[in-house]
Amino acid sequence: AKILNGKDFLTMKESTPTEIAELLKLAQEIKGKLQAGEEYTPLKGKTLGMIFEKSSTRTRVSFEVGMMQLGGHALFLSGNDLQIGRGETISDTAKVLSEYIDGIMIRTFEHEKILELAGNASIPVINGLTDLAHPCQVLADFLTIIEIKGKLKGLKMSYIGDGNNVANSLMVGCAKMGVDFSIGCPEAYKPDEKVVSYAQKVAEKTGSNIVVATSAQEAIQNADIVYSDVWTSMGQEIENGIRLEAFKDYQINNELVKLAKDDYLFMHCLPAHRGEEVTGEVIDGPNSVVFHQAGNRLHAQKAVLVDLMS
Ligand code: CP
Ligand code: NVA
Repeated sequence: AKILNGKDFLTMKESTPTEIAELLKLAQEIKGKLQAGEEYTPLKGKTLGMIFEKSSTRTRVSFEVGMMQLGGHALFLSGNDLQIGRGETISDTAKVLSEYIDGIMIRTFEHEKILELAGNASIPVINGLTDLAHPCQVLADFLTIIEIKGKLKGLKMSYIGDGNNVANSLMVGCAKMGVDFSIGCPEAYKPDEKVVSYAQKVAEKTGSNIVVATSAQEAIQNADIVYSDVWTSMGQEIENGIRLEAFKDYQINNELVKLAKDDYLFMHCLPAHRGEEVTGEVIDGPNSVVFHQAGNRLHAQKAVLVDLMS
């Protein structure tokens, strides 16, 4: 049965709370089959093209291994080596790839590019991260939280740091699933205004509370989940010096986490910079679940692949 209503998986916005919950259930089922050693190959004969215009460790490996485990095949397509890198249009690329393969995963810069790709492809398009959103990450994060805390609704997530792609998707995802979400970030690095107002509108219906604060201490109060991401995202390297200065009061360290609940989980999408957004004591400490979380990228994405491509 098809869970997602649309052809693509581009942001958390397009999915309803029911769809997200069902995808997570499917992910758990598929993970269970793998752990039981059961063969499950619904994507036999199918190929996923994976376009990368930015670096990746987790996304590339988890999608490639996921396709293999599902009986299919994945192609790594570097943005530099495709004709896109020499000016072939996204729409022509979308139409050509639709002739050969069964789905596209893309990691790129401007979100408009993925919309153009999806709009011109007859096959499903999956967002492997854009400057606006990282929905596959959030599915894996939710799967991890459910596995450890047994639920999503009613929990509080505190994200400390840059109002970036990961923050946007977490905020919208939390709003949909009834999770309270507080971000603590400098004034100049707040998440996209449109994303915040959308999340707050959704939250009114689900009973969650979405807060944008400039104080890390305020945002982290009573958190069940403390989340961080890098201060300088891919494509922003030139701003690194300014960002290090702007975010210096937003480091997650042993002092700050005292304000969270005793049994808080520390989460990070990775890659991490120890000594910047988080100290080694916290990310390598007893509350950290970052590798469990990274592992769940595989299982969460397999649910998306099966739903969209089988
Ligand atoms: N979290 C994440 O997307 O990692 P990669 O950049 O390694 O894919
Ligand atoms: N915000 C980070 C996430 C990396 C997975 C980036 O966009 O570089």
